[in-house]
Amino acid sequence: MKLYFSNRVRQQSSLSRCLLLFTVVLSAASVCGWALPTAKTDDDKPLGKVPKLPVDSLPAKISTTKIPGGFNGIPAAPADNATTAEKVSLGRKLFFDPILSTDGTVSCASCHQPDHGFASPDPIAVGVGGKIGKRNAPTVINRVFGKKFSWDGRDDSLEQQALGPLKSETELGGNVELVLENIRKNPEYVQQFQVVFGGDAKSPTPEMVTAENLAKAIASFERTLTSGNSKVDRFRAAEYEALSKEARQGLWIFESRGGCWKCHSGSNLTDEAFHNTGVGFGKSGRDQGRFEATKNPGHEFQYKTPTLRDVEFTAPYMHDGSVKTLREVVEFYNRGGDPNDPSLDKKMAPLNLSEKEIGFLVEFLKALSGESVLNPAN
Ligand code: HEC
Ligand code: HEC
Repeated sequence: MKLYFSNRVRQQSSLSRCLLLFTVVLSAASVCGWALPTAKTDDDKPLGKVPKLPVDSLPAKISTTKIPGGFNGIPAAPADNATTAEKVSLGRKLFFDPILSTDGTVSCASCHQPDHGFASPDPIAVGVGGKIGKRNAPTVINRVFGKKFSWDGRDDSLEQQALGPLKSETELGGNVELVLENIRKNPEYVQQFQVVFGGDAKSPTPEMVTAENLAKAIASFERTLTSGNSKVDRFRAAEYEALSKEARQGLWIFESRGGCWKCHSGSNLTDEAFHNTGVGFGKSGRDQGRFEATKNPGHEFQYKTPTLRDVEFTAPYMHDGSVKTLREVVEFYNRGGDPNDPSLDKKMAPLNLSEKEIGFLVEFLKALSGESVLNPAN
């Protein structure tokens, strides 16, 4: 009995010695600046914070026909995917629903957050399980005017683009079939897919819940997310008082020696083309941009010129989210982008703008915020 007791004491004390040693080692590790092991993904990348799940607080009714001020018209939807109110409403529900992710935690709106100009506040997008992707999530506003989609232009239509995030392990989880199965278990969705795609609403069958139909509905919703009639549009339509004096100066610089117009052209402030402005130059393992989509060496490091509409809401900027504010963006262009980059676009050059002129350009960019589902016209 006595022997047993002392054995127990000895065991306990060796256990606490062991714990003590463990604590000492751990605190030594943290004092020495070694990071304690955190959760890692399969390929050993650190994890980020799973983005929030925004609720749908957009206006109840979204127009499917309104031409935003400053545009001449809206490009027609593809022949096999006419925009209808029911389809838009289904796409809208899907856009906000985490049912689209394999673990039910992330929706399209998690990365394209309405209160962030339909973009993401994370420099690099974070998806299911905190997995970190490769690029910044751009806005989905005014995509109806787009010709190619994603920073590298790999997608030719919104329908094609919409399945990308479902197939991606770092976005919605990479298991489209599982997601479709989950949707088929939801009678409300089965009914809605039937009404939109199957015609006969009386006998709904889960067969209407296909990847193709899902993509069509989401694309139709995205086509309604437009922004126009900004202060700049109103100024151009002869409402001169709409623009502040500073923003007017900025508009002048944008269209003349700022050279911005060379790429950010037309009503949507994009030439829909691809350029290397020098973003990411010197980074190890630099993202190769359009080259990744085309494998054409001439396309290396080129990215799609983004729209500048509603740009004041969508920080951080650029394909890698490396630029925090609009002022820093303009300062970047003032330096000529990254002039050390040997494949820099020929349209890029140092601008020699004064501090004041940089401020004017920033005021102009802010005046591009328009009327949209986020800021409906009164
Ligand atoms: C984990 C974050 C994340 C989720 C979730 C996500 N996206 Fe994106 N989205 C991105 C990123 C990052 C890009 C840019 C991809 C690239 O260029 O490689 C992008 C690009 C896009 C584009 C192209 C925009 C343009 O200017 O070309 C559209 C449209 C889009 N997403 C719609 C959606 C839809 C619809 C969903 C839901 C089905 C969705 N996204 C889910 C991060 C996300
Ligand atoms: C050579 C073509 C070109 C010129 C000239 C140009 N841009 Fe850009 N702009 C781009 C491209 C391409 C990107 C995306 C670059 C990237 O992410 O790597 C971009 C990105 C931006 C962004 C960030 C948008 C976002 O959503 O992340 C802003 C703001 C911007 N440009 C404003 C300007 C202004 C202001 C000027 C003039 C001083 C200008 N640009 C001149 C092509 C150009």
